[in-house]
Amino acid sequence: MKDLFRYLVVGVLLGATGVCVASPRCQVTIHSDDRIHWDTPDIKVSNVCENFTVTLVHDGQLSKDVMGHNWVLAKTEDSEALLRILIAEKDNDYINEDPRIIAHTKLLGGGQVSVVTFDVSKLQLGQAYSFFCSYPEHVKLMQGTLELIED
Ligand code: CO
Repeated sequence: MKDLFRYLVVGVLLGATGVCVASPRCQVTIHSDDRIHWDTPDIKVSNVCENFTVTLVHDGQLSKDVMGHNWVLAKTEDSEALLRILIAEKDNDYINEDPRIIAHTKLLGGGQVSVVTFDVSKLQLGQAYSFFCSYPEHVKLMQGTLELIED
């Protein structure tokens, strides 16, 4: 019985360690829906993360042609020019191969999820990054800032 207890304690401790290793700052889940809206205005990425994973969830029901959402990351200084180009890419779900795009998800309609993982070494300390939805007219209410922070 004592041994069983010990195993349980070890198990809990290992579980706790697992939580620490998978630091919440190495990933974020962003929820959107049938409004022009998402729930995450700012993201901090720890420089101890090797990779960073963004999970975009569309909790709504409208199709991507009507209420499409994606998540596009770029340097803040590149974002405006980039967005002007992406908005014209209707046949390509408002995305292209522009090298200024650091990472992006797929364009989602209601009920869909897209996950993107990128190498944190692509980010620099002190550099301002922005993320946005490139679906036309969505950027005003679907944008945010991303920052690499030192841990
Ligand atoms: Co959108």
